[in-house]
Amino acid sequence: MKIDGIATRTIWPADDGKTVEIIDQTLLPHDFDVVKLATVEEAARAISTMQVRGAPLIGAAAAYGMALAMENDPSDESLSAAYETLLATRPTAVNLRWALDDARAAIAPAAPNRRALAAWVRANEIADEDVEINRAIGAHGLGLLDNIYGMKGRTGCLNVLTHCNAGWLATVDWGTALAPVYMAYDAGMPVHVWVDETRPRNQGASLTAWELAHHGVPHTVIADNAGGHLMQHGLVDACIVGTDRTTSTGDVCNKIGTYLKALAAQDNGVPFFVALPGPTIDWTLTDGVAQIPIEQRAAAEQSHISGLAEDGAVRTVRLVPEGSPCANYAFDVTPARLVSALITERGVCAASAAGLLSLYPERRQP
Ligand code: MRU
Repeated sequence: MKIDGIATRTIWPADDGKTVEIIDQTLLPHDFDVVKLATVEEAARAISTMQVRGAPLIGAAAAYGMALAMENDPSDESLSAAYETLLATRPTAVNLRWALDDARAAIAPAAPNRRALAAWVRANEIADEDVEINRAIGAHGLGLLDNIYGMKGRTGCLNVLTHCNAGWLATVDWGTALAPVYMAYDAGMPVHVWVDETRPRNQGASLTAWELAHHGVPHTVIADNAGGHLMQHGLVDACIVGTDRTTSTGDVCNKIGTYLKALAAQDNGVPFFVALPGPTIDWTLTDGVAQIPIEQRAAAEQSHISGLAEDGAVRTVRLVPEGSPCANYAFDVTPARLVSALITERGVCAASAAGLLSLYPERRQP
């Protein structure tokens, strides 16, 4: 997507051919800074501290992390250590494991003096593939939005509610949930986005609002608890969210609070769509609630909040009384029965085993 007219991705190989550059998402929306990663340890830290975040971007960053490891030491030991270090960064997004397995399969057969090249080639391919996948998700999702706008008589604006950030900052480019929104906006549809602020890290308020604003898409940031009220009053035409892991049966795991939005959507007859790239599907799982590992992050993310003070400095302040314990569950699972449809790079399907297999027939068990 473009920042001030310049096409920008969230991650890219640096001109020196040996390092990677990222947008530091912990500084947005108040500062825009590009950070250089030179080692696998720096890549792992960037993922765990959420300088890069969002399931598809985590996968791409991990693939580049493998390239950094091979650049510095192409031995078997280094390959295994890099894989384990990166895999341990975040537990929920399955794109991480997918990208690491994929990168390792491309690197391991090469002779040590060819491994860095193999790793860079595959990491660049994974990044480019992510962009194309998201572009296709956008095109398929646009069809759904156009149908809904048609049913609305093509009058007024199309109100879409989203949770967390599943826009271009969560991917290499385009985004998953927001790709259809960008395409609708670019096609001239009068779209407006309700942006859940997404406590505790506020990816909606800080990241989704920032990227929508830079693209010119009309949007309004709302408190996480406002969605149900808006749906009751007919102010939401569709919800679209992303997912960090989708079971083979169509359960989706996404940022904490997604499940509550899906419940409210069902109660109010609002379509609830989940946009996902193929690498987000964990074909080994059948029950999201029972089987998907839910990340728990530091209590400080809950007890404190950062923002721009009046003197122009970014400051962190305490919200919760000293001594009150906090629990910071980062994701929840929305059962397939609450999902109206899945939007993938291969098309739109029911959130079910049959629906997913209709788009990914190669996954059918013999
Ligand atoms: O903790 P985060 O910011 O990495 O969580 C991101 C989300 O929950 C996104 O909705 C998800 O990764 C889908 S991204 C296209």
